[in-house]
Amino acid sequence: MKILVGITGGIAAYKSPLLVRLLRKAGHEVRCVVTQHALQFVTPLTLETVSGNKVYADLFDSHNDHTTEHIALKDWGELMVVAPATANIIGKMASGIGDDALSTLLLSFMHKPIYLAPAMNTQMWECPAVQRNIEYLRSIGVHVLEPASGELACGTSGAGRMPEPEEIFATLTREVLSGAKMGVQAESDNTPLSSIPNPQFQRVLVTAGPTYERIDSVRFIGNYSSGKMGFALAQVLADKGVEVELVTGPTALEIDHPHIHRTDVESAREMFDAATALFPSCQAAILSAAVADYRPEHTADHKLKKQGAEGMTLTLVQNPDILATLGTMKTEQQTLIGFALETDNELDNAQKKLKKKNLDYIVLNSLRDAGAGFGVDTNRVTILGRDGSNYATPLLTKGQVAEEIVKHCLCPKA
Ligand code: PMT
Repeated sequence: MKILVGITGGIAAYKSPLLVRLLRKAGHEVRCVVTQHALQFVTPLTLETVSGNKVYADLFDSHNDHTTEHIALKDWGELMVVAPATANIIGKMASGIGDDALSTLLLSFMHKPIYLAPAMNTQMWECPAVQRNIEYLRSIGVHVLEPASGELACGTSGAGRMPEPEEIFATLTREVLSGAKMGVQAESDNTPLSSIPNPQFQRVLVTAGPTYERIDSVRFIGNYSSGKMGFALAQVLADKGVEVELVTGPTALEIDHPHIHRTDVESAREMFDAATALFPSCQAAILSAAVADYRPEHTADHKLKKQGAEGMTLTLVQNPDILATLGTMKTEQQTLIGFALETDNELDNAQKKLKKKNLDYIVLNSLRDAGAGFGVDTNRVTILGRDGSNYATPLLTKGQVAEEIVKHCLCPKA
């Protein structure tokens, strides 16, 4: 089938190439039409590579074969899907406005099947004007997919996420493409990953946050972990229906979800006790906590007095390694995923941890990556598998990184 993929300017545009790839692998011809804002999130080169065709961005591009190319495209295409579809493009379609290549094409395509995959902030999605536009478009036969709920790029949580490319592809296949001539099947080792965890993963243990190792009644040794990465993992898993055992060190974060069972701990030893007790009842564990490797040998139950000018010596003893211990407890049926926070020789060190701690996957965080690691809302990771797999994400929100980790480590191939 000949499919036009429209892409507008939302953060979810980084996932659009995957949709194009899924459509191509299923044997369809794809041409992409993008808005100028979409090009802030995805490059024409990526789209040209995955679609195998030039990308259409300008109404009056001098490289166009002729200035009414959007009209030629409308004759070429048999189905159009806009993913992500912003409030802006939805508003233009509903109002009959055509001021760029994509909006003009959409107006001329209304007599053929159009699917929209909205993506926007929850308040925008719930805005009466947007809902009126959606209702109107549905009433004239445009298919509007329901946005998913979860953490949004703006840091809030709620409805407004673009459905995953696999879900859009599944809907299109079910509703339109299954009758169309299918082409070559995807190679087995290259098949797309589903975004729904394997049903065997009913209960997953997640560790999050820092640990505090007490020196005395008012001081501790800690680190800068905020818990955001671990909480994002818990949220993503719970949103997919998985029961989550969240063991967290001290954090200001709150989380309220019927599938999330939270255990608050303070020290590495408390985290060790909670995690080793819960692991046998879980089918997988993701250890994102930043656990202190050492603790003071002695903890004073009062505030230590200032010592003389010669200074003060604190003797540290080693904490148990929770991840390594779970690696020794792990059964054939369990999946163990660790994190590695590195500052140099990142890949080498992460590979060593993967093997030494008997892990299935390790998620590498490099502190040399701007916008990644402690405290911030974004992250960029490389996921290494014991099977030799290696997948690097771009800089994404921690919610999106969590989504990628769950997809790569716990979701079967579609
Ligand atoms: O909480 P945020 O502010 O969102 O920050 C997220 C993060 C940077 C903390 C997170 O993405 C991350 O990288 N977590 C791992 C931090 C870490 O302690 O890495 P490590 O390389 O020292 O430890 C390797 C692995 O062993 C980790 O899975 C860790 O949880 C585990 N470990 C370490 C020591 C120990 N005694 N027990 C453990 O289980």
